[in-house]
Amino acid sequence: MKAVIYTVLGVFALMQVIRPDFNTPPVDPKVALHADPKVMTILKTSCYDCHSSQTHYPWYHNVAPVSWIMADHITKGRQAIDFSNWANIDASVKLKRLERAKQTVHNDMMPKHEYLLMHKNAVLNAHDKQILDQFFDEQIKALGGSLTTMKAINS
Ligand code: HEC
Repeated sequence: MKAVIYTVLGVFALMQVIRPDFNTPPVDPKVALHADPKVMTILKTSCYDCHSSQTHYPWYHNVAPVSWIMADHITKGRQAIDFSNWANIDASVKLKRLERAKQTVHNDMMPKHEYLLMHKNAVLNAHDKQILDQFFDEQIKALGGSLTTMKAINS
């Protein structure tokens, strides 16, 4: 039994050696998203840890294997949609992401469930969802309407 415990502890200790490169890149206010304070509060509480440069790292961010999962979420999250780099996102890409944002928020696919376990305050209530939905709609409109009209313009 002791051997098992030592093996488990040993593996856990070894896992700590592999440390992901966590970073908070500087935010350029000229390209970062600016929206209504109500919208910003929801996005910052529920999305910014994975979808911006303004990630808040909790104490356990250095503990493997949680650190590996977090690093993966942050890298892929920023790749998918980065609110700190909002003005630089290509209009057609932005339109697609906004459509997906509407769906994922509506279907409770975002914020990610693993994240919500440790961030209860990031759970979206019906009112938050409505505010986000409205914001995504406004953005979609400002970019030239629905995805289908965009495709029609481009073809
Ligand atoms: C814990 C990290 C995390 C949080 C918090 C989070 N996301 Fe994500 N999001 C991801 C990751 C990782 C991806 C990449 C695709 C995947 O793994 O699902 C993603 C993908 C997306 C996409 C692209 C989906 C697609 O299929 O194109 C959208 C849109 C999105 N997230 C919106 C949001 C919104 C809006 C919020 C806040 C309400 C949010 N996310 C909160 C991690 C997160």
